[in-house]
Amino acid sequence: MKTVIVTGGAGFIGSAVVRHVIADTGVKVVNLDKLTYAANLASLSEVDGSDRYVFEQADICDGAALDRIFARHKPDAVMHLAAESHVDRSIDGPADFIQTNIVGTYTMLEAARKYWSAAPAEVKAKFCFHHISTDEVFGSLGDEGLFTETTAYDPRSPYSASKASSDHLVRAWMETYGLPTVLSNCSNNYGPYHFPEKLIPLMIIKGLAGEPLPVYGKGENVRDWLYVDDHARALWTVCSKGVPGESYNIGGNEERKNIDVVTGICSLLDELVPQQGGKKYSEQITYVTDRPGHDFRYAIDASKIKAELGWEPSESFESGLRKTVQWYLDRKDWWQPILDRKYSGQRLGTGSKG
Ligand code: NAD
Ligand code: DAU
Repeated sequence: MKTVIVTGGAGFIGSAVVRHVIADTGVKVVNLDKLTYAANLASLSEVDGSDRYVFEQADICDGAALDRIFARHKPDAVMHLAAESHVDRSIDGPADFIQTNIVGTYTMLEAARKYWSAAPAEVKAKFCFHHISTDEVFGSLGDEGLFTETTAYDPRSPYSASKASSDHLVRAWMETYGLPTVLSNCSNNYGPYHFPEKLIPLMIIKGLAGEPLPVYGKGENVRDWLYVDDHARALWTVCSKGVPGESYNIGGNEERKNIDVVTGICSLLDELVPQQGGKKYSEQITYVTDRPGHDFRYAIDASKIKAELGWEPSESFESGLRKTVQWYLDRKDWWQPILDRKYSGQRLGTGSKG
């Protein structure tokens, strides 16, 4: 493979993918990103100087722009990560999720199909459209069980319904038009460069500011956490070795109740930034009104990607969380401008905005 288009490469996971591909392969990366509120080019400073890195600012809903970018760069593969990604924002305003996640994925598929249909035989034979999706398409688990690749789809939030729609489109484009596609569905990511609307960075930053730490409901909902660099490696493995027509579940096998995640962050802050008078960060924990339709539990069975493609995570939740807290302590230069200009930590997702 010579060239890959990564959509959403200025976001949290996309930037980890771009950094990984530039650092650990010889492949050229074209980062195609609209630069929404969630994007941050500062997450890409370490690849900026590489002659294998190109940035194209474009909207995935703009078919003409996509045609130009495919024609200009002649990719061997596409890794499609661009999306609206925050469940709470999808509750307050679903329109952008329908537009970007569904219409945008459709527009990407059509641009890829046009390019692939006309490509030389050697490109055509190896081309792959890799769609990056979420475990949330499978719905909500009770206390037992794991999501596998054959679990029936049962999305329950505007975000997960839009991602499920896009997954169905991707499969349809392979079945109907023969476009070689591969899918991956991953659990909750965490790590450096995570936008502070999401649980882990929000709790670290609010903890440091001495603000209340808002835990939804009783804090008993469970998520299965994966360190973002492990996900980036998994995605590259799927894109370069995955079998077209297949889907792969990706997860860290690290289930935690939300309250345990938050108390874990508090303990790390107690150790790394002790407060005067022995005050504990956990005293800031505040239980708040639950997220509407809050999925109870997600948990991934990642045995297929391990058995068939040889990927497994290298970071435990404990080691990854420590690295993450330390990164936020060291990189206020990255997150303070976001708080100043884009999002200052207010509650989202109550549905009150209509
Ligand atoms: P993010 O919100 O951090 O970044 C999304 C990126 O997409 C941003 O750079 C944004 O500018 C870009 N984008 C949004 N709309 C666009 C448009 N119309 N045209 C072009 N670019 C656009 O998201 P993330 O957390 O990095 O997630 C990336 C992908 O991985 C998403 O598809 C998401 O559904 C999926 N995913 C995320 C997680 C997670 O825990 N964060 C887990 C599983 C799957
Ligand atoms: O499972 C994969 C998904 O994980 C991805 O597809 C999404 O893009 C990603 O945002 C993430 O979705 P979640 O809704 O699970 O992540 P979030 O960080 O928003 O919330 C994690 C859990 O913490 C969830 O149960 C809600 C809870 N929460 C969240 C926030 C922001 C709180 O209790 N308090 C908070 O302030």
